[in-house]
Amino acid sequence: MQDNLKQTFLAEIDNIKYIQELSNLKAKYIGKKGLITERIKQLGSLSPEERKVQGIFLNELKNFVEETIKNKEVQLRQQEISEALKKEYIDITLPGKDFYFGGSHPVNKTLFEIVDIFRELGFTVEEGPEVELDYYNFEALNIPKNHPARDMQDTFYVSEDVVLRTHTSPIQIRVMEKKNPPLRFIAPGKVYRCDSDVSHTPMFHQVEGLMVDEKVSFSHLKGMLVYFLRRLFGEEIPVRFRPSFFPFTEPSTEIDIGCIICGVKGCRVCKGTGWLEVLGAGMVHPNVFKFAGYPHGKYTGFAFGMGVERLTMLKYGIDDIRLFFENDIRFLRQF
Ligand code: DAH
Repeated sequence: MQDNLKQTFLAEIDNIKYIQELSNLKAKYIGKKGLITERIKQLGSLSPEERKVQGIFLNELKNFVEETIKNKEVQLRQQEISEALKKEYIDITLPGKDFYFGGSHPVNKTLFEIVDIFRELGFTVEEGPEVELDYYNFEALNIPKNHPARDMQDTFYVSEDVVLRTHTSPIQIRVMEKKNPPLRFIAPGKVYRCDSDVSHTPMFHQVEGLMVDEKVSFSHLKGMLVYFLRRLFGEEIPVRFRPSFFPFTEPSTEIDIGCIICGVKGCRVCKGTGWLEVLGAGMVHPNVFKFAGYPHGKYTGFAFGMGVERLTMLKYGIDDIRLFFENDIRFLRQF
């Protein structure tokens, strides 16, 4: 009977797989109302000789049970740990997962560079609406209705009087309406034209610039823009000014840099001329000041405009403008 107790205990503990089960087993045998405890309580009813024998036996059994449970607990805990380790095993010899940092779009990179250069020259940054009144996009820039210059710009009309701005020049008027000279700002933004091929997309970016004060001259224009191009394309870049026409400037000029691809020798990119047009500019037309509400003859100023995609293409030797908008990560990752 006594031996039986030990056998059952051993059989039961052998079946135990989880540490949590051990406390029940412990209670069952040596808890307050455990099988062994109860028997120890009953020792008093035995004869002195039997009490002695049983007492020793039960005490030893109790110690044995305690010891065995303790050992089992250690064994189960170790088992748990080694199973967890097996499950959470990390093969540190496997190649790591690739991950990529996001980066600026090449067009934005150039844009930030342009903004930084002009900021150093004391220019602030202004903005204007992309959905623009015909008045600001054309009229106030000295391009009246039916003026042939409107043909140069394939306009998206929203309604009779509202367009998607075809250039950033309307911001000139909007700022001048609100602020008096001295003025020195650039105005970057999206512009829209109904045009699409290797060098045109319906949406692209321009940066406009305007400097107005009492004695701003063409030399200022020249000095600032040559400095700007040298910062953007390097000290050695050849720069030339060509006479041109814009309704909102007089005189007007287009500015070329020596072809980066062929080194001013003539190639496919510069169409054999050796030069690439990068900027439109000129002295602000008196009519534009009139539309802005400035007193006649008091101020002079220069303005300029450039296409950011075009500059980016030249800077990095990209030959198809559409690449900027396809969002092919293999292309974008190169910048
Ligand atoms: N707005 C012109 C265009 O989109 C670019 C331009 C030329 C802007 C001459 C100017 C300027 O401010 O003076 O083609």
